[in-house]
Amino acid sequence: MLGGQALQGSRIIAAARRELDADGFRHMAEAALRNHAGPGKLDPDQLAVFLAMLDYVRIDAEGEGGWASLCDRLEGSERMRAFYLSVAPQLFGPISERLATSGCRTPDTRLVVEKPLGRDLESAQALNRQLATLFEERQIYRIDHYLGKETVQNLMALRFANALFEPIWNARHVDHVQITVAERVGVGGRGAYYDRNGAIRDMMQNHLLQLLCLIAMEPPAHFEPDAVRDEKLKVLRSLKPLDGLGDVVRGQYRGINGEAGYCEDAENPGSRTESFVAIKAEIANWRWNGAPFYLRTGKRLRARMSEIAVVFKDAPHSIFPESAGGTRPNVLAIRLQPDEGITLRLTIKEPGPGGMRLCEAPLDMTFAETMGAEGLSMPDAYERLVMDVIRGDQTLFMRGDEVEAAWRWIDPIIAAAEAAPERPQSYDSYSSGPEDALMLMHRDGRRWRAVA
Ligand code: BG6
Repeated sequence: MLGGQALQGSRIIAAARRELDADGFRHMAEAALRNHAGPGKLDPDQLAVFLAMLDYVRIDAEGEGGWASLCDRLEGSERMRAFYLSVAPQLFGPISERLATSGCRTPDTRLVVEKPLGRDLESAQALNRQLATLFEERQIYRIDHYLGKETVQNLMALRFANALFEPIWNARHVDHVQITVAERVGVGGRGAYYDRNGAIRDMMQNHLLQLLCLIAMEPPAHFEPDAVRDEKLKVLRSLKPLDGLGDVVRGQYRGINGEAGYCEDAENPGSRTESFVAIKAEIANWRWNGAPFYLRTGKRLRARMSEIAVVFKDAPHSIFPESAGGTRPNVLAIRLQPDEGITLRLTIKEPGPGGMRLCEAPLDMTFAETMGAEGLSMPDAYERLVMDVIRGDQTLFMRGDEVEAAWRWIDPIIAAAEAAPERPQSYDSYSSGPEDALMLMHRDGRRWRAVA
């Protein structure tokens, strides 16, 4: 369970509108934990220690009610305070204001917020401005839970702790990069939220662009929050603005075998919201000019799979006879989920006496196998990020200017999509997405890796 020693003497105070007391909240939390862990999986002593940390205060986010008693509960705690706002984004401002005026905020208070951080550049700027009047940037933790995923952090280790990759990590050697975040689930019970946002706002503006940054950024001088975030920001600012939808494909899933399609799930029959988007992005700088980044994400696709694939250029010349079969470009695939791991695709000689015949073989590393039990018990992304809030480490959190730079690139894409006369292209549920997404690659003589 939660980080042992580090949390000793800590308290978790839930504050919400619901009529509840501390015992009622503890019961809720216990039931949720049992349900999550499965029968017999919780250590009763640890559980008791954890539940004893919990408290509850009834609070009115927009009114006066409850704030004084929240402050009373915090009284005497000289230690760091973290406020995690798990609320609708329009309440970020009012709640921050109350935290400041009611006296709950101390110099070592940390504020945690999560997307949607605005719905365009203007609203993101307004939110940043508002938070900046109440908190210093060093106190604001903007979560992108993809940055908390173990393999995503490993990406930085892979790039910056191994001398092997850096010399070939550029457009001279890399043909292109593919980033796929495919989900099997549809929009389910989140139809109303999703229909207002769509895949571009929900996934592309944040998770996929953050992954792109980690692949594309220059080595930071230190593994230290602002050094890392400065480099990510430079990448976002180097993205070539897209003109129209020529490099963008939007899709919407249709139901198969009697199952509901997107519009039924979203309860909006004529919805034009995309549940899939693919974009060819280009980074205008010395390292990446000429090596595009193809990004795609969607719901109700064939499999749940998140992967970054760095596809290298083919061998410049083949010394083997045609009968050997051609060489295939090397691919470094970083699998974020499921089966977290890293694979390097190589061309080797087919084993056996049949002469020189070439074939593909993977050099494979899965965390579960390589790290044994530790690989299997990797912390959940949120677990890791909450611990970082407590430790005061902002490296894996987005800075305000990063969020704005991402919106600055995304805004014209959304504007073009909203102005487009055509609807997103339909694709079958559990397929690999709309036809046009395949074309986005084919027309460049490339192909997507399988969603599997
Ligand atoms: C969230 C999106 O940020 O990420 C969801 O709002 C999406 O629509 C989810 O399903 C995917 O996260 P994960 O960790 O399951 O890949």
